[in-house]
Amino acid sequence: MNSAILDSQFSIFNSKYYILTFGCQMNVHDSEKLAGILSGMGYSEAPAPGDADVIVVNTCCIRDTAEKRIYGNIGSLKGLKKKNKNLIIAVVGCMTRQDGAAEALLEKFPFIDIILGASNEHTLGEKIAELLNKEKRRSIIDSHTPDDPEIIEDGKVVRTSFPNGWVNIMYGCDNFCSYCIVPYVRGRERSRDLSLILKEITELLEDGYKEITLLGQNVNSYKSNDYGFTELLKAAGALPFKYRLRFMTSHPKDFSSSIIDAIRDNKNIARAVHLPVQSGSDSVLKAMNRRYTRERYLEIISGIRAEIPEAGLTTDIMVGFPGETEDDFSETLDLVQKARFSNAFTFVYSPRKGTAAAEMEQIPYAVKKDRIARLIALQNKITREESETCVGKSYEVLAESEAKEGILAGRTESGRMVNFEGDKGLIGRFIDVKIERAKAAALWGKV
Ligand code: SAH
Ligand code: SF4
Ligand code: F3S
Repeated sequence: MNSAILDSQFSIFNSKYYILTFGCQMNVHDSEKLAGILSGMGYSEAPAPGDADVIVVNTCCIRDTAEKRIYGNIGSLKGLKKKNKNLIIAVVGCMTRQDGAAEALLEKFPFIDIILGASNEHTLGEKIAELLNKEKRRSIIDSHTPDDPEIIEDGKVVRTSFPNGWVNIMYGCDNFCSYCIVPYVRGRERSRDLSLILKEITELLEDGYKEITLLGQNVNSYKSNDYGFTELLKAAGALPFKYRLRFMTSHPKDFSSSIIDAIRDNKNIARAVHLPVQSGSDSVLKAMNRRYTRERYLEIISGIRAEIPEAGLTTDIMVGFPGETEDDFSETLDLVQKARFSNAFTFVYSPRKGTAAAEMEQIPYAVKKDRIARLIALQNKITREESETCVGKSYEVLAESEAKEGILAGRTESGRMVNFEGDKGLIGRFIDVKIERAKAAALWGKV
């Protein structure tokens, strides 16, 4: 890469980059790695897209709504390209890998210069150098994801989430839930070496990070030599620092009781579990290829509640999966009543080309809309009630960001958002906050 960059006849002195990120935490962290590549080449961060010489759009294709929003955003870059013909526009991430997606993007937006897939992003620097060295600008496309992409270690990372540090523990997914595009765009499951993960965490903690979030599509199936996820949790939790260890995302089919024991026994592991349920109906879960039952799911959460009563439980739920009947949906509502999640991310099923569920008979949009409204109303009521139980109690909150001037936002160990008055110099500190009032999912308190 370096020699190609040195050959460049264009200077990147004083040049700037801007990264637009869509999608999940995995993408947020990937963007930190892309920023690492660009800053390694000599680019600095631009305050706005209009000030940038390179704009990277890091995409998501989990639902149709995500894709539409991204198309809108790329379209709005056309004006910038007109003003500055040297501007480089790169589109990377999950969306570009789908069959025909790169071609469709170029046809609609011929001004895109570089298209890379999620597993080719580490070549961004080479591709920019190639483009700058070309006599005539021509778009570069490299969005193919091999089945088993290699794990790239040791790249520079420009972190943007202090006091939280994202740490990948695994990439890809082998589960093929029938609605999901991720296994197609992110390739097969592969785990990072345990020692490299622990080294990265240790370095972050030495640098003052107070929260580490382990990332993977299905963290519970982490495997490196003889070490599984529980061993990783125990080893990371035992590092000699005070910090919060979080992880996402878990899968109920792989969530073992040893994970619950590890959380209970290690005070660095945050008392919070995000465990997507998707549906409360066994027949829908089966059609989704989730490989657990509603009973098993409820058993896991009673296990968590029995061992760690203060744990915060959150979930993802989808409505309108093909074949979901009113009875199936009632079972989802019933599970939500029983589980009493402190918060839930709710989605309307969106058919993804190439997945098994896209071929099944779809249910009408009006039905989906009605169900999501009823689900959201129920969960909002539970969220409010659960938040109200916190009023009057004190919690240790990690100050994470400034919500607005003089107001800090942070989270309790169980993952609840808390707002309180404080100076931004407190960001990265653990602070005891007494909760005075609750508003939906957010709590308000005083130091
Ligand atoms: N690996 C994680 C995250 C997957 S994406 C997991 O297994 O949970 C995050 C959430 O998006 C999923 O939990 C699911 O609820 C939702 N989702 C995935 N595919 C979807 C689709 N086609 N339509 C609507 N929601 C979807
Ligand atoms: Fe998608 Fe299922 Fe893999 Fe999660 S576990 S990324 S929902 S296929
Ligand atoms: Fe989206 Fe890719 Fe994440 S499809 S949800 S950015 S893994």
